[in-house]
Amino acid sequence: MGRFYVTTPIYYVNDAPHVGHAYCTVNADAMARWHRLIGDETKFLTGTDEHGQKVADAAEKNGLTPKEWTDRTSARFREAWDALGISYDDFIRTTEPRHYESVQKFLTRIYENGYIYKDVYQGLYCVSCEDYYTIDSSIDGKCPIHGRELTEMEEENWFFRLSVFEDRLLEYYAEHPGFVTPDTKRNEAYSFIKGGLRDISITRTSISWGIPVPWDEKHVFYVWYDALINYLTAIGYGRDDDEVEEWWPASHHLIGKEIIRFHCVWWPAMCMAAGLEPASHVQVHGWLLVGGQKLSKTMAAEGGVRLSDIAPVVLTNEFGVDPIRYYLLRETVLGNDGEFSHEGITSRYNTDLANNLGNLVARVTTVVSSKCAGVSPAAKTDSALRHEAEKAIADTAAAWNRFAPQSALEATWNLIGATNAYLEQHAPWKMEPGDAVDAVMGDALEAIRLVAILATPAMPGVCEEIWRRIGLSGTPADKTFDQSATWGQYAGGHRVGKGDPLFPRMKSDA
Ligand code: MSP
Repeated sequence: MGRFYVTTPIYYVNDAPHVGHAYCTVNADAMARWHRLIGDETKFLTGTDEHGQKVADAAEKNGLTPKEWTDRTSARFREAWDALGISYDDFIRTTEPRHYESVQKFLTRIYENGYIYKDVYQGLYCVSCEDYYTIDSSIDGKCPIHGRELTEMEEENWFFRLSVFEDRLLEYYAEHPGFVTPDTKRNEAYSFIKGGLRDISITRTSISWGIPVPWDEKHVFYVWYDALINYLTAIGYGRDDDEVEEWWPASHHLIGKEIIRFHCVWWPAMCMAAGLEPASHVQVHGWLLVGGQKLSKTMAAEGGVRLSDIAPVVLTNEFGVDPIRYYLLRETVLGNDGEFSHEGITSRYNTDLANNLGNLVARVTTVVSSKCAGVSPAAKTDSALRHEAEKAIADTAAAWNRFAPQSALEATWNLIGATNAYLEQHAPWKMEPGDAVDAVMGDALEAIRLVAILATPAMPGVCEEIWRRIGLSGTPADKTFDQSATWGQYAGGHRVGKGDPLFPRMKSDA
């Protein structure tokens, strides 16, 4: 048994959660569920990033104090995650006292280690990114991500000596080839470091919405500098050394591609400066696009969809929780960009869920009702399906283990396809009741049992329902994967219920 600590980025609370945020959180949730299933001691952290200019501006625009605004918006993220069946173990808010304590202790440590000094910052800033730019990294003086005017800034700030970590970071990358995945993103981070690092300004005096710098109370920490430390706050940094020892660096940060520099350059350097090992792994994902564009509030104005129409809660009401989870996990290879659309969801739903999985369960439960008097037969050990099942088990497990939900589901669906083909080949619905039907049905039921286990990280609700329909008690996640995912455990003798269709077909213009 291992330890698995998985995190999402903490989301800015300048606005409501959208499906892009859900994409990242559902992927992290499926990974956490997979690791619990294989018996790893697992901690899954998500939360909200509540300081910084962008959040302070949003509060002011809405006539609220930052605290009132963040309370309200942070709660919307929790609601969205509840609607999506997200099994986080901890939800951190950067305005909590525990975070203030960890941040102040962590940064005091870096200060005492001599990596923080005072200087004047002069340059350009994008409030949407909460990031600094130089003229060279801007596009005609505008932010390359948001296209908005950059703000000129000049203040006396505290700086972090990022530049002195260049060689150590390069060495760390060389010694830990799996630190950042996929490789293309690793290479991006590596080239960035190779290109030379500049020290970074880490405090502000122009705003007060932030965590005070313990050795200079006129300053608050720059939002990114406080935010990254959340991963340590949640495991007790500065408060419980044993807990830190237990969970660090068994950590996997799942992040979007635009925040690579913070997680793959700054964050490991900050850990080094504080005398800690960097996190063990950063998994980068791409963006969900709508009509080829990153989701944004201005999409509707440009003739596209309104963000609120594709809010996570709206989507789960429209399609169901598990179908949305399935779509987000199955449609796009983690690391690539993917197009999000209603047509895409409907097509996946009708093909993979209604036609393949739903149809398999319906066929099997119907035939057991009509030809086996509603009582399930047992699986045979020498079934022709056994080889397919064992391959699906191995491929699915290998894919989940390498953070590849899309391939994991593909491998599981291969077993569904093979089982449907097996049924068509034998056509048990045309046979007379007896041993021959029992033999086919026992094997199909065993395949369904295995599918319910293999797909449970992605679709926990549906898999539990399938488990019940084939007469099993508890859930597919009750036993560890090693114990339950081997061919031939379906003992039969269970009452099998037909039930309503698991996935009623959707009109394709839904
Ligand atoms: N607050 C920072 C993260 C601090 S972590 C120490 C932040 N917040 S964010 O709300 O802007 O973005 C959070 C995550 O959501 C990022 O990983 C980002 O890539 C992801 N997504 C935002 N829009 C997205 C899509 N359209 N598609 C996929 N993920 C997207 O950055």
